[in-house]
Amino acid sequence: MTKTEFMATQQSFFTEEHKVISDAYSESAEIVFALGDSIEILSQCPNGFASLIITSPPYNIGKEYESQTRLDHYLEQLHPILKELVRVLSPQGSLCWQVGNYVDKSEVFPLDIYFYPLFKKLGLQLRNRIIWTFEHGLHCSVRFSGRYETLLWFTKTDEYTFNLDAVRVPSKYPGKTNFRPGPKYGLPSGNPLGKNPSDVWKLIVKEWELGLWNIPNVKANHPEKTIHPCQFPIELVERCVLSLTSEGDWVLDPFSGVGSALLAAVRHNRRAIGCERESKYIDEAKRRMNMLFSGELPYRPIGKPVYQPTEREKMSQIPQQWLTIEGGR
Ligand SMILES: C[S@@+](CC[C@H](N)C(=O)[O-])C[C@H]1O[C@@H](n2cnc3c(N)ncnc32)[C@H](O)[C@@H]1O
Repeated sequence: MTKTEFMATQQSFFTEEHKVISDAYSESAEIVFALGDSIEILSQCPNGFASLIITSPPYNIGKEYESQTRLDHYLEQLHPILKELVRVLSPQGSLCWQVGNYVDKSEVFPLDIYFYPLFKKLGLQLRNRIIWTFEHGLHCSVRFSGRYETLLWFTKTDEYTFNLDAVRVPSKYPGKTNFRPGPKYGLPSGNPLGKNPSDVWKLIVKEWELGLWNIPNVKANHPEKTIHPCQFPIELVERCVLSLTSEGDWVLDPFSGVGSALLAAVRHNRRAIGCERESKYIDEAKRRMNMLFSGELPYRPIGKPVYQPTEREKMSQIPQQWLTIEGGR
């Protein structure tokens, strides 16, 4: 048997990057694209192997990959998966659960409110409820347009990995000095590596100046857009990978879609496993991973400012017709 045939029977192979890619968890694997239901795949994974679980579950809003059901049924269906996630999470590990709203007959049900008690009952502790805001989306006529989703960051114990220095952002006033009398009087009061980025990851233009994280959601004109209707921006996951894991750790996405979480993990030398039951999304995830290896992945790098039209461009000017309307703006 040739090496290639052998690797095929093992359902793993080496890429040009010498990563061991597989379709099932094993200790020697480095990237796993697991096709199937998460509950089956997780049952094959050992206790405590994952340092970071980061995901955006189906929201039960009738996307092409889900069948909409009553909210209580939806939560019941997911509960066995939540239990498995807590089992496979390492004692130093983190679980980041990114959700938006479930909407029924125009009534809004923020999903994080429903998931919080479930994870709390399973023993996890909440460290942050991160607000991820973006400028674009549907325009509502019966309520204010929604422009944020949340990311619940839980840990399993008090002994968790947190590398704040890896994700600091520049201070707004780096020249600020200590003003209280004492040995530090007159010395810079901030941290030379920058300040804590806070729990609001906000879409603004000059993030470096204002020290807020700037992560646009993945819509049609975003360079990372694929066939998936609800993709993560890679950048959002990178923040969590860098702050909550170390090199070589396992990052797990139990609803991995087109593999954005896996790409973020691999970019930073972490091992990555994704579970996804639609083969077309797994194929797309593999294609993107190959593009990452060949340097061709369309990707919005951390910190790249969002395009902001100048005042001279037509799209940023008030239409002439509106100038005559009272209150037009
Ligand atoms: C919100 S999307 C996640 C998208 C992903 N974050 C990305 O960047 O592509 C949820 C995904 O979970 C998948 N899915 C839903 N239920 C699943 C299950 N029980 N097991 C595995 N995958 C599932 C869906 O097919 C869908 O692609």
